[in-house]
Amino acid sequence: MDASDHLINQDFWNAVVPHHTSSAFYNLEVFKAGATSLLPIELEEVGSVEGKTLLHLQCHFGMDTLSWARLGARVTGVDFSEQAIAFARSLAQELGLDASFICADIYDLPNKLSEQFEIVFTSYGVLCWLPDIERWARVVADFIQPGGTFYIIDGHPLTRIFSSDPHATGATDLKVASSYFMREPAIVEVRGSYADSGEEFPPKKMLNWNHSLGDILSALIQAGLTIEFLHEFPVMHWAPFPFLKQGEDRLWHFSQGDPQLPLLFSIRATKG
Ligand SMILES: C[S@@+](CC[C@H](N)C(=O)[O-])C[C@H]1O[C@@H](n2cnc3c(N)ncnc32)[C@H](O)[C@@H]1O
Repeated sequence: MDASDHLINQDFWNAVVPHHTSSAFYNLEVFKAGATSLLPIELEEVGSVEGKTLLHLQCHFGMDTLSWARLGARVTGVDFSEQAIAFARSLAQELGLDASFICADIYDLPNKLSEQFEIVFTSYGVLCWLPDIERWARVVADFIQPGGTFYIIDGHPLTRIFSSDPHATGATDLKVASSYFMREPAIVEVRGSYADSGEEFPPKKMLNWNHSLGDILSALIQAGLTIEFLHEFPVMHWAPFPFLKQGEDRLWHFSQGDPQLPLLFSIRATKG
């Protein structure tokens, strides 16, 4: 990422923070009252974090980081948005939770943090912001202590190839609009985000990359990690297509009878 790409995306994420902290999507009041922001998939797949050190990469404004803290992890959250990190710190203080937050670009984190962690965690909407997947995997691996675990759950790269036709009524209406194998970033101008309709949100530019599942897995293996599993799920944490229906699990599902496509993937890996 060159310096101007970094600034375009950082500017987008700084602008998003006040909209997200007041959104129904994040439902901060319910979280403050004690609800977890973590979803059942990662709760089950990460397993017990009690007493463990956990590094949360691209933590946004810290709800998931603090949810892990409530489960007994000793947490450090990292994000390159100053607004997000400032909010995360004040949220931790308000809730009396022990957590440390670092404002840093992922690629620059080795210059700001030298500790290793038992768990490195990252989730939901992270890899599309990162231009260099091999370098990301090396940063991840270096922060895991020997015997430790890496876990990611993120949008499946397949979902990014479809046009977002607001009139599509089922999976068979989806139109392939871009290549799965995308080497150049997509420069998109958006109003709003997955958590905000954007009515009070000025249009903003951002840069996205699509890393294939093969590239993600290979990068982690090359960085020295041992893959325990790669799972694919026909559910999503937000609604990228208008016809998905939200279930009681808070996830978005295809209707029964519709072809089921992978919408999320998760990987758990260990460092020897
Ligand atoms: C979609 S959000 C992650 C959402 C998070 N799972 C949640 O729901 O709270 C993506 C986050 O990545 C951060 N980010 C994007 N590029 C980054 C980079 N190069 N280094 C560090 N953080 C970055 C953004 O600031 C944003 O907070």
